[in-house]
Amino acid sequence: MNHQFSQLDEGVSSDVETASAFQMAVATVLLALLLQLFWRCCCSCYCNHVKKYVSFFLSSSACGMDPSTIAAVENILNYTFKNKTLLVEALTHSSFNPHKSFARLEFIGDAALGLAVATHFFCLEQPKLTTEQLTNLRKVIVSNKKLARIAAEHGLYWFVRRKNIEDLDYLVKEYEGAVKQGDDQTIKDQHPGILADIVESLAGAVYSDVDFDLKELWLIFRDLLGVDEIELPKDGDDGSSEITGAQDQLYGLCGRRRWTKPCYREEKARDRDACKYVYSVEIGIGDLVLTEKGYEKSSKKLAKNSAAYLLICNLQKSRRM
Ligand SMILES: *[C@@H]1O[C@H](CO)[C@@H](O)[C@H](O)[C@H]1NC(C)=O
Ligand SMILES: *[C@@H]1O[C@H](CO)[C@@H](O)[C@H](O)[C@H]1NC(C)=O
Repeated sequence: MNHQFSQLDEGVSSDVETASAFQMAVATVLLALLLQLFWRCCCSCYCNHVKKYVSFFLSSSACGMDPSTIAAVENILNYTFKNKTLLVEALTHSSFNPHKSFARLEFIGDAALGLAVATHFFCLEQPKLTTEQLTNLRKVIVSNKKLARIAAEHGLYWFVRRKNIEDLDYLVKEYEGAVKQGDDQTIKDQHPGILADIVESLAGAVYSDVDFDLKELWLIFRDLLGVDEIELPKDGDDGSSEITGAQDQLYGLCGRRRWTKPCYREEKARDRDACKYVYSVEIGIGDLVLTEKGYEKSSKKLAKNSAAYLLICNLQKSRRM
């Protein structure tokens, strides 16, 4: 009996030993797994950080673009790119890298800007614009002339990577000088095409960076395009094509009719401290001198435009054009 018991005891104790050895093994394996998991986590965190830094360098300095250039353009746009590679591409002329120039971004940017402007004015409740007015507004706001002017005002050309195109450098410098001096005739005659392309390629880069969200593109670009300065046609106002560009139109008209060229004079604004301007414009038709005073505006340019616009309206009313 005793013997049997002792055998039984042995059996039980060896069972207990096997069980605890089994538990130990399971615990060890679990621990090992946990450790491995922890290690992988650490690794991937670390790698992600390294990757972020590497991609930052790859997308900026290693792409041959100074981080300060990137920051300067981001500052002008008031937008920080998630993917800097897009911005670098938008600032690469084909003379620098024909395979990765801004041409593709310019293509999508051109279309997106046009649609963003069209959508904005289409959705306006007050005033509800006619098809013709909508067409004119879009034409004016995203015209190459207007975009070139914006590029010149911000010196965007000089951020673009380019090679051996000194002729173009020279043209751009001349044009920028004309814009600075408000020399309307030069501005009208020649605007280097590349300037509008740059604004469009930047728009394309932003549009792509915001995942093709048209509203976001609009919020970012409306300031740059100066949309709030655009004078909307009032109800019953049929001069929709003269919203802006009346100055150019008057100049062209005088040239064609051989009238004396428009002469603008600054008038006293009621409230000069509020930075308001008033201009009058004068043209000569043979012996006849016509003058018109514009409305008070927030800039000299708009004030001149207003005077020109009213003069054109008068010419139309008196059937001289
Ligand atoms: C820049 O954009 C932010 C919104 O993203 C806006 O609050 C800020 O006023 C803008 N700055 C300028 C100078 O337009
Ligand atoms: C950044 O943009 C470039 C150019 O379009 C693209 O090839 C790349 O995949 C983008 N990177 C990320 C992280 O989205």
